[in-house]
Amino acid sequence: MNDTSKRRIAVCPGSFDPVTNGHLDIIERAASVFDHVVVGVLNNPEKRGLFSIEERIEMLEESVAHLHNVSVGSFTGLLVKFARECGAVTIIRGLRAVSDFEFEFRMASMNRKLAPDIETFFMMTSNEYAYLSSSVVKQVASFGGCVRGLVPVVVEKKLREKFGSGKTTNQYAGLEIEE
Ligand code: PNS
Repeated sequence: MNDTSKRRIAVCPGSFDPVTNGHLDIIERAASVFDHVVVGVLNNPEKRGLFSIEERIEMLEESVAHLHNVSVGSFTGLLVKFARECGAVTIIRGLRAVSDFEFEFRMASMNRKLAPDIETFFMMTSNEYAYLSSSVVKQVASFGGCVRGLVPVVVEKKLREKFGSGKTTNQYAGLEIEE
């Protein structure tokens, strides 16, 4: 498609503290449907996460490096304003379970009220990641549990750095055993 004004751009917003393979699954699938996907990291000065915004962006950039039509940015304030700035027509959110629905419904309804021209599309998370969240990953990693396969390798490494055990590890019967 030569006419760039007809490019279908979508925004994948989130906290990404840190990005998980569940997020990545949604980003990859969105990238196969839209011409371009902008991953938008919310920069909320009132909520300090485990990782700084710069670290989150760095990990995301490395994780989506294989996707030629995905870029990463950050935003403060309203998501719909960021979507407009990106020229996006769609906001993509992943839905894991019914428990996600209420929050997502409120958010999509408010975004629609603020910007009726921007649609929210929901994608069902792949079954293998249905239980996965950044919070669960952080908790498991903080207690020395194995998060291999749940997050991109760069995130696994960063979590190990954050939580101190620079040691090499091995997996036995689903448990992480320090060598
Ligand atoms: O990964 P998360 O924490 O579920 O992502 C939530 C996020 C960043 C998408 C949401 O908090 C957001 O869009 N915040 C920006 C503020 C905003 O636009 N509020 C109006 C809609 S409720």
